[in-house]
Amino acid sequence: MPDLVLHNISELPPAEAALVKALGHRSIVLIGMMGAGKSSVGRKLALRLGIPFVDADTEIERAAGMSIPDIFEIHGETEFRAGESRVIARLLDGGPQVLATGGGAFMNAATRARIREKGISVWLKADFEVLLRRIKRRSDRPLLKTADPAATLRQLIDVRYPAYAEAAITIESRDVLHEVIVGEIVERLCEVVPGRAS
Ligand code: S3P
Repeated sequence: MPDLVLHNISELPPAEAALVKALGHRSIVLIGMMGAGKSSVGRKLALRLGIPFVDADTEIERAAGMSIPDIFEIHGETEFRAGESRVIARLLDGGPQVLATGGGAFMNAATRARIREKGISVWLKADFEVLLRRIKRRSDRPLLKTADPAATLRQLIDVRYPAYAEAAITIESRDVLHEVIVGEIVERLCEVVPGRAS
């Protein structure tokens, strides 16, 4: 369920309006590691384009009727991944929208294929140090509840970055205002979204 009120497309600046028109029913899908800023940047991007923002993790929690840590604890990661892939498949039918996905979602080949078909993937790529600093602020990520979260983060980066690199657009997520990142995403989208009216 989107959590933001929409603008009328006629209220958008011309470049944004043309981009939204060219998107059609496709979603802008934010991918990347935990702590990369997918949800906070995604909300601001959606606001700028006047389209809904949807957070896949929130929708998974809604569908399961429990929090992600509880899903991991009670049903295990395999069940979580199956639910994640189902929920994202359903959400991808709801574009245009900005869809933020959990860090592991793009590792599923079927999910990657669906995103390619029905969306434009944007990888928010952040350095290890940036991610480590950010993830230390929260303790609700089951995958990082290990004896050495920094080492786990490094391993996840090594395994995941080759798959993330398949994204249509890569943006360096760093410690600048979210508006700067949003501006870069919009600029790149204007270049790559096919059929965009100039
Ligand atoms: C996960 C990332 C989390 C959430 C779950 C698993 C991952 O989402 O989906 O804890 O595998 O990286 P965020 O990337 O939004 O933190």
